[in-house]
Amino acid sequence: ETKILKVNPLSIHFSPNAHIDGSLPTISDPETEKALLEAAKIIRDSDDTVAFPTETVYGLGGSSLNDKSVLSIYRAKNRPSDNPLITHISSIDQLNRRIYGEESNSNESPLRNIPEIYHSLIAKLWPGPLTILLPVPPMESGTLSKLTTGDQPTFAVRIPSSRIARALIALSDTPIAAPSANASTKPSPTLASHVLHDLEGRIPLILDGGPCKIGVESTVVDGLSQPPSLLRPGGFTYEQIVELGGSQWADCRVERRQTVGETEKVRTPGMKYKHYSPSAKVILLVPNRKDSTNSRLEKLRDIIRTEQSLRSESLKSIAVLTASHLNNTSLDNILPSGSNLKMIVESLGSTGREIQANLFAALRRVDEVENVDLIIVEGLPEVDEGLAVMNRLKKAAGGNCISF
Ligand code: TXA
Ligand code: MG
Repeated sequence: ETKILKVNPLSIHFSPNAHIDGSLPTISDPETEKALLEAAKIIRDSDDTVAFPTETVYGLGGSSLNDKSVLSIYRAKNRPSDNPLITHISSIDQLNRRIYGEESNSNESPLRNIPEIYHSLIAKLWPGPLTILLPVPPMESGTLSKLTTGDQPTFAVRIPSSRIARALIALSDTPIAAPSANASTKPSPTLASHVLHDLEGRIPLILDGGPCKIGVESTVVDGLSQPPSLLRPGGFTYEQIVELGGSQWADCRVERRQTVGETEKVRTPGMKYKHYSPSAKVILLVPNRKDSTNSRLEKLRDIIRTEQSLRSESLKSIAVLTASHLNNTSLDNILPSGSNLKMIVESLGSTGREIQANLFAALRRVDEVENVDLIIVEGLPEVDEGLAVMNRLKKAAGGNCISF
């Protein structure tokens, strides 16, 4: 029921200014063009959805301008409808025409609908994994579906850098609402196979563009609050936002709360839900500079022993996902002697970028393919890419965090 079409991003070419003026791409591979046109037709002419790759994770897209399409997204993912969606645009010109209902106008500044606080950031980071909040357009422009905003006074928008994503949005000439294309609560998909695993039979089409390069979702910033804040760390780091945003972003706050009470009104509603959770229990090792290699190994042994005594027969296999400290350390003697536990050890990578790119795929592989009963994952210091990685891992672990 769910069709998968391969698309080749290298066959898609945009002129350098296309993300401002909205000029269309040229596509040299006929298969890719055919697949994109088929997907664009679903977005533009139906109430249905299409999964497509972006540079961050695969998205599940539907028209931001059509209530029924937005409902189809929530339904396919099983997502609570008060968690708002990001609208993806291919150009500033499209934002002005299709969301603000204005004519193309070459005399006025293309950035007229975007508050000045964002100008430096978007000049440097769009197209790319940066999502900004804008005030919901006045009623009379009447185009953006209210269902995308989860009752917030703002809506979230970004221009992705993925050529496939941009081509799909440009060809449909429709702003696309797209959450990550996973079933709600699961890790985000970075491969077409992840999307198929979660949504097979629930959506008509998946565009397969290979693995997503960045591997975590976009950075969500709010420049409308005082001081401005980072609502979700992501593909661009906090350090980049502060460095590139101009003086107004120097005192940017970081939203650090992981979860909040059900009824509390929050600016990032996504915070209150279970998220990034494999079926297996996840234990997060939070790096602590003071521990030595030996004391870390002793701790790991202890954790495994404790889990075994808690679950005895039902604990048959464990995955250990390693990062900085454990990467070059042998874990051969870590299992209690005489136990017939099976253990898989996998490195997440040796740099923040590698770890970020492998994170969701590694969690899914050991959970969905290897079917382990317990995942122990080594975290990173919360700087640079480490902030986004730890934000996802803390949610995946849901409170099972051990200083390490
Ligand atoms: O990289 C990404 O951003 C991916 C790809 C597909 O583009 N999309 C994505 O969407 O991660 P989603 O729906 O999984 O996450 C959207 C995040 C949520 O944390 C949501 O609460 C927040 O953005 N958000 C959306 N609209 C908002 C608003 N008006 N105010 C505050 N937060 C908002
Ligand atoms: Mg998501």
